[in-house]
Amino acid sequence: MDLYGGHAVISIGHSHPYYVQKISSQLSQLGFYSNSVKISLQHELAEKLGELSGHNNYHLFLCNSGAEANENALKLASFHNGRKKIIAFNQSFHGRTSLAVACTNDTSIQAPVNENSNIVFLPLNDEAALRGHLTTDVCAVIIEGIQGVGGVQIPTTSFLLTLRQLCTETGAVLILDEIQSGYGRSGHFFAHQYAGIQADLITVAKGMGNGFPVAGVLISPMFKAKHGLLGTTFGGNYLACAAAIAVLDVIKNENLIANAATIGNYLIEELSKLPNIREVRGMGLMIGIELNQACAPVRNTLLQQHKIFTGSSSNKNTLRVLPPLNITKAQADVFIEALSTTLQNQPA
Ligand SMILES: Cc1ncc(COP(=O)(O)O)c(C=O)c1O
Repeated sequence: MDLYGGHAVISIGHSHPYYVQKISSQLSQLGFYSNSVKISLQHELAEKLGELSGHNNYHLFLCNSGAEANENALKLASFHNGRKKIIAFNQSFHGRTSLAVACTNDTSIQAPVNENSNIVFLPLNDEAALRGHLTTDVCAVIIEGIQGVGGVQIPTTSFLLTLRQLCTETGAVLILDEIQSGYGRSGHFFAHQYAGIQADLITVAKGMGNGFPVAGVLISPMFKAKHGLLGTTFGGNYLACAAAIAVLDVIKNENLIANAATIGNYLIEELSKLPNIREVRGMGLMIGIELNQACAPVRNTLLQQHKIFTGSSSNKNTLRVLPPLNITKAQADVFIEALSTTLQNQPA
């Protein structure tokens, strides 16, 4: 049982028959390159994404990976206000980008930040630090809807409201990285929607294609499209669009956002009762289980003895659980039982 899905990539389950059929039927187009067919698929995708996410007045730029989506968002922001300075948060992860990597306790993915860097890292949820740094020279603030690699840390509502207000007052662009936390995983289409704020740019990838490489930037109407702002060779190709449309159809038709909220709440509640757990953090099906010990041996037992695959995070004690959005209560119970047995037999 895969409860990790390649870092939240598997949103609708492995080999969902509707998804397989949608991509297979598009394969007949292979080798025939027609912009008009591609563009009609891109429009269908943009419309469906706008409708399901509640952002139908946003434009959609399609690309191929999360890093590419974030780079394009940063570029759009600097074109928009002509500034350079970026604010990001400690323990955040925004892909192998030029700027936005700050996993301070995982040196393997630390950014090559040098003295010329225009990036400032602040503690998450520290409003005083934010007020001190978010001034009129800031180009953009980039923040994850929920920090994934950093160990499932959730920005508070109050922090997100202050952030939105300060960005508006200073003219800084607010970029919500929903690459891991988006696409229904949190029980909302985008995790930040729980706080009722609107981002200027939203980046998406991972669960968008359920394994097929596709990503995008949702762009608020305050950005005026201009020739030369954005471009891509492969972004929004036939198969990527077919995969992304299939994912949205399944999320909508199978009510998967509601399922993520229901099963997610159930898991968080039940997991919190288990022994040897310091804290369970999360929202919907983005869950971090902080143990009293390193999670590696626990993950190993879950895999070897119970055939359940889970993930870790940059905080070595935090087990990360990112199941497909169509996980059932019975499957959730199998995991709760397996983790309970494992923690009892492997006390910290
Ligand atoms: C929040 C977040 N942003 C960006 C990325 C980078 O995405 P990609 O690996 O597709 O470039 C990731 C990948 O883990 C991520 O979790």
